[in-house]
Formats: sequence, C-alpha cells, structure tokens
Amino acid sequence: MPKEAWGSRLGLILAMAGNAVGLGNFLRFPVQAVQNGGGAFIIPYLICFLLLGIPLLFIEWSSGRYGGKHNNHSTPFILDGMGKGKIWKYIGVFGIFTNIAVVAYYTYIESWSFIYVFHALFGSFENMSQTQVAQFFENYISFNTSTTGIPFESIVFYVLVLILNIYILSKGLGGIEKAAKIGMPLLIIFGIILAISAFTLGESGRSAQFPDASAWDGLNFLWTPQFDSLLNPKVWLAAAGQIFFTLSVGMGTIQCYAAYIRENEDIALNAVSAGFMNEFVEVVLGSSIVIPIAAGYLGMDWVMENAGFGMAFQTMPYLFQQWGQTLAIFAGILWFGLLFFAGITSSLAMGTPWMGFMKDEFGWGKKRGAWSFGLLALIMGIPTVLFYQEGVFEEYDYWGGTVSLVLFALLESILFSWVFGIHKGWREITEGADMKVPRIYKVVIKYITPLLLLMVFIGALVTPEDNDWTASILNLWNGDPWILDNHSIIRKLSNHELKELLLEADTLVEKKEIADKLFYSNLARILLVSLFLFITSLVYLANRKRLLKSRI
Ligand code: ALA
Repeated sequence: MPKEAWGSRLGLILAMAGNAVGLGNFLRFPVQAVQNGGGAFIIPYLICFLLLGIPLLFIEWSSGRYGGKHNNHSTPFILDGMGKGKIWKYIGVFGIFTNIAVVAYYTYIESWSFIYVFHALFGSFENMSQTQVAQFFENYISFNTSTTGIPFESIVFYVLVLILNIYILSKGLGGIEKAAKIGMPLLIIFGIILAISAFTLGESGRSAQFPDASAWDGLNFLWTPQFDSLLNPKVWLAAAGQIFFTLSVGMGTIQCYAAYIRENEDIALNAVSAGFMNEFVEVVLGSSIVIPIAAGYLGMDWVMENAGFGMAFQTMPYLFQQWGQTLAIFAGILWFGLLFFAGITSSLAMGTPWMGFMKDEFGWGKKRGAWSFGLLALIMGIPTVLFYQEGVFEEYDYWGGTVSLVLFALLESILFSWVFGIHKGWREITEGADMKVPRIYKVVIKYITPLLLLMVFIGALVTPEDNDWTASILNLWNGDPWILDNHSIIRKLSNHELKELLLEADTLVEKKEIADKLFYSNLARILLVSLFLFITSLVYLANRKRLLKSRI
C-alpha cells in the first residue's frame, strides 16, 4: 500500500496555515495586545516571531519529515528516533496530550461560533441592548434558559461540532485538505470585508454615551510602538505565549502534518509560507476587527477595561446591530463564520497526532482513530462545558494550552540542536529546500532559541511579586527572600491565590464559591494528569511491542 501523503503542495500549505490560523488569531491576539499595552506588545511579539516562531517552525517541520521517513507520524517515536536514551519518547507524549487537552475546550468555542452564525442569520440579536446581548451569551453557557428552544443546547451543539470534526478526520488527509481549501480562502475574504468595515467606521459610531469613540484610536493604540516595554518580562512572556499558541508550535501537530510530506520535498519555503500567512491573518486582520470596531462605538477606555475573550460573543453582535438590520445579519454571519472556519481547521489538526500514533503502533484505521479521538475529547470536554463558569476551561488553557507548549518546545529544541545535532538538523532543514535558508538561523536555532525558551520558562516558573524583577533581584542581593507572584507557575500549581482568598473570605457564600473553584480546579488537574498518564502508558506498551518485534 502506498504511504499516505498530502495530495498537493497547495493543499499542504493551506492545511498547515489552517492549523495555525485559528481562534487564537482573532480572539486571543487582540486581547493579549490590549492587555499588554498595545504598541508596547507588538515589538516583543515580532521579535519572538523571528527568534522563536520561525526557528521552531523549521525544527518541527524538519523533525516531522524526518520521522515520516522512518514511518513515525507522532512525536513520541519521532523524538525517540532523533535522540539517544529512553526518555524522549515519553517527552513526546506532550505532542499528543496537548492536542487532546486543547481540543476539549477549543471545540466548545467552535460550537459557540457555529450556533452564533445561525443566531445572526435569524436575527436573534435584533433590538437587543448591549446588556441583553451579553446576557444572551450567559444564558447559553450557563443553561439558565435555552436560546434556541433545545434543552441543554450548549452540550448538544458541542457534541454536534465534535462529530463534524470526527467525520472529516475519518476521511484522512484528503478530508483535512478539502476543509482547508474551502475554509481558508473564505476566512480571509470574510476577514478582509470586516477589516474594511472597521477602517471605514472612523468616528461615525460616536454616541451621547461615548462621545470620544473612534475606530482610529483602536488602530493607533495597537500600532504606535512603545519601546519601554522591551524591558518588561511580563510583556515578553505574553508575546512568546501568543507566538506559540498562534503558530501551533510546541503542540505536536506540525510534526504530524510534516510526517506526511514526501522525502526530499521542500519544507523550508513551505514552513515560511505557512508561518507568514498566519502572521498576515493575525497581525493585519486579527488586529483590524474587534478592537477598532469596539473602540469605534464604545471608546478605547471601555475596550481597555473590558478586553476579554467574551467580547467576540458578548459585544460584537450588539455592535453589528448599529449597522442596521440587514448589514448586521451579514456582518454576524461573516464574523462567526470566520471564527468557525478558523477554529475547525485548527481542531482537525489536533486530531491527527493521536490518529497517527494509533495507526503506527496499533494499526488502527482512520475511522477507529477518529472516533476514539472524539471520545477522548468528549470525556475531557464535557467538564469544560458543564463547569465553564467554575474555571475548568481556564485550567485546561493554562496547563494544556500554555505551559505545556513552552516546556515541550524547550525540550524539543534542545533535542534538535544538541542531541540530534545542529549539523544533521541543518541538513534536514535545507534538504530539498526551495529557498536559501539564511545561515544565521543555524546559530539562532542552536543557541538563541533554546536560551530564549529557557528564559521564558524560568521567567514564568518563578515570576516575582508584581512582576518586578529589578526590585526582586536587588532584594535577593540584600539577603531578602524571593517572593513569588500569584501568576508564577509555582504559585499556580499550589493554587496559592485561591487559598489566600479562601482565608480572607468573610461570608459563607463567598467561602463556598471559592471552595467550589478550588474543587473544580483540582478536578481539571486530575483529568489532565490522568490523560497524560494514559498516553504515557500507551507509549510504554507501544515500545514493548516494538522491542518484541525487533527480537523476532
Ligand atoms: N494555532 C491555533 C490558534 O491560533 C491553535 O487558534
């Protein structure tokens, strides 16, 4: 049987770009940018793209193609084949784990976009006030009342969207390629139309309540560079985190997709093309929709105070209503359709490492692979749907969608440059390349990327109180202890902030609320650890199988 491979180069690039372009580009990026000072965020962000993003793309594309040559299509045995020692295959567990942890909550947001397309189409938001639109979303996620008349609608649509993912995945690479060929161009067209609407909004959205509103303020805020942020580690951490999430590096999906590239086919130009396509969508389109439109009607002060994930669902439908009923329908369909296409082309990618692993090691076919992935996603995902308000979603995003990516990227960059060896690694990157890869990247990949990753990781692990590194280092110098910030990984791990709040709570109601949060945070962690151990045991079994086979 011929080896499974991508149908065409265009299909591969669109699938890889679809993997990268996701909800992160339209929902996460604008919020990160606003919360980290707008123009102050952009410079560290672009530097992280060049020094972390591009090198990791090269590392992951080339590791993937290398693994594919040896019939390995997921990170446990791709890494195992590149390193000496037994540990690497277990480090590779991250490359399956992260995807299942992320897809569990990611498809939930995808299902919001899906159903909101229909709400926009049927004019559900007509004549609603801003508070009513926000309440509509609250009702949807908290089972208060049904927005469609269907009981338990958020579970129903979540499962429906998951089944759609499973169906496409069960068609193999062909299904993914088709979804990317339809989804990516539509998403870009929708994004351009919405961005043009934002650019032409200017100051015309001012009202008595928000007399200073201006879409230009939103754009200026993002695009006026501020150099002082270069010395703020918090902004660097946020920028690096966004680069990981948006490019899908440190996840294991790129290696898996690249494992299906034919030997000697270019990876360098492909990697750069998919990476830049993602950046175009993120930096140009992602920054030109939510923030300027919200600033155009509500003013930049409002945006700064309220910037958050929910804006896309709680505020945008109200703002579109200001364009009149017909245009609101169009804008709503474009916006939520764009989010849906962005989401699904990424969640499909998250299914492939598991499927590739089960196929390589246990001979599972596409259908079995896709349905078992769906089942795992459902088991992990139902708690995020039921206990969204209690913070299960955030726990998954923090441990599965943030910390794991940085840790895995750090370890794989060390493996690539220092264990596999940068000379061999460079040969893998440049073999069959349709572009001349700047040689400076050999130095960057060997020294700068692992060092930066280490700094990012340590910075997140032991973030000092109030993020004040200068004062904390001086204190340490004077013999005072290092006081951790509640956002440091170590404090998060011990749930320090919640425990403090529990002690300080005055009323029984408050105490119960915090105790509940603690309970759900622990529940989420137990689920995540169980998932990790489950995949680790499968890797152990697979390895034993391989050893037995090699002895026969
Ligand atoms: N890269 C995907 C996104 O940005 C996961 O949403």
